[in-house]
Amino acid sequence: MFKHNLLRQVSRASATGLRPPTVAAATRCATRPFSNAIGLRDKNDDEHQFDQYSTSGEQGADIHEGQYSRTDKRIRVEYPEEEGLPRQKPVQGRGGYHFKRTLASFSLEDRVGVVTGGARGLGLVMSQALVISGADVAIVDMNKEEADHQAKILVEGFKKENPGAEKIPKVTAHYADVSSPDSVNSAIAGILEAHGKIDNLVTSAGFTENYDAIEYPYERMQKLWGVNVDGTYLFATGVAKHLMERKAKGSIVFIGSMSGAIVNVPQPQAPYNAAKAAVRHLASSLAVEWAHADIRVNCISPGYMLTALTRKILDDNPELAQKWISLIPQGKMGRPEDLMGAVTFLCSDASGYVTGSDLRIDGGYTVT
Ligand SMILES: NC(=O)c1ccc[n+]([C@@H]2O[C@H](COP(=O)([O-])OP(=O)(O)OC[C@H]3O[C@@H](n4cnc5c(N)ncnc54)[C@H](O)[C@@H]3O)[C@@H](O)[C@H]2O)c1
Repeated sequence: MFKHNLLRQVSRASATGLRPPTVAAATRCATRPFSNAIGLRDKNDDEHQFDQYSTSGEQGADIHEGQYSRTDKRIRVEYPEEEGLPRQKPVQGRGGYHFKRTLASFSLEDRVGVVTGGARGLGLVMSQALVISGADVAIVDMNKEEADHQAKILVEGFKKENPGAEKIPKVTAHYADVSSPDSVNSAIAGILEAHGKIDNLVTSAGFTENYDAIEYPYERMQKLWGVNVDGTYLFATGVAKHLMERKAKGSIVFIGSMSGAIVNVPQPQAPYNAAKAAVRHLASSLAVEWAHADIRVNCISPGYMLTALTRKILDDNPELAQKWISLIPQGKMGRPEDLMGAVTFLCSDASGYVTGSDLRIDGGYTVT
């Protein structure tokens, strides 16, 4: 019924659209004053066929109501156990010496970067970006075994892509549960022992779960906020304290999400969205608070990125793939590699006058 009416309306509208307006009609439009006066409404307005799609129609009257803009409580995804996620391979073909001209200010030579959640996913690829750009890197993760493994792989990959390199990057692995203040403090102490200093921090430790808000167990919500929000705060304040004591400038990059600015559909994830909004505003707030010390703080807000975790969500809910990509103007999900340039830019001197910003890397999702 709806479709039939709509098609009729569309064909009627396009037919009238072809006719140029008459002079009389144009004059009428130009001189008629705007008015909301009820007296000017057509007496049949209340029976207009589109009224049912306005607030005068009853809730639930049409099957298309909110079809592409509501959450679906039937979708539930719990963060998987470690063994549920496959091991990741390093990005190929992005490293190595090259002779293409580029700005020297993008280089991270002689810097030490810390990446939380660096054993896997976006954090691992961003660790690789820092190594390729010249930095030494400390990978921090709750999964220490995987962090150890990946630290070795990053160095081996560098050696393979840069035979005869004079300086081999130092990549270390450190355990931390970023939601615990004691654990964060001892990880920072361990990093300073191994590297002597920290110049950059990237906070990628975080996770998402899809749950109907009313049914989400309170302990899980606390853990989700603990890792995403407290973890970001604790590591940032720890590193800023070190930079201030050293009287050194630095750059910190928080990994937020486009979910901090919009509400994803159809999967429900209210606590995650709120956590990422907190991360984004924390970046702005700390940027202002630490500007005097030459410490910059920015946020990267990725859209849908194809990682082991999102692959698993899509394996469990294949219908989500079409829904997601249909809402992305670029029509594609991003890959972790798509963050390599952004994180390097924000950590480097190339972004010297950028602080408190939120860089959305989402294929245009949040602009529509
Ligand atoms: N993948 C996406 O599409 C996407 C989109 C937007 C934002 N993000 C954000 O990017 C970040 C990384 O996501 P990902 O997809 O790479 O996830 P991932 O699960 O692949 O990797 C996260 C890493 O963080 C570690 N980690 C989890 N809890 C931790 C804790 N308490 N302490 C220390 N380490 C911990 C995990 O062991 C893992 O190695 C997250 O903050 C996520 O919210 C991801």
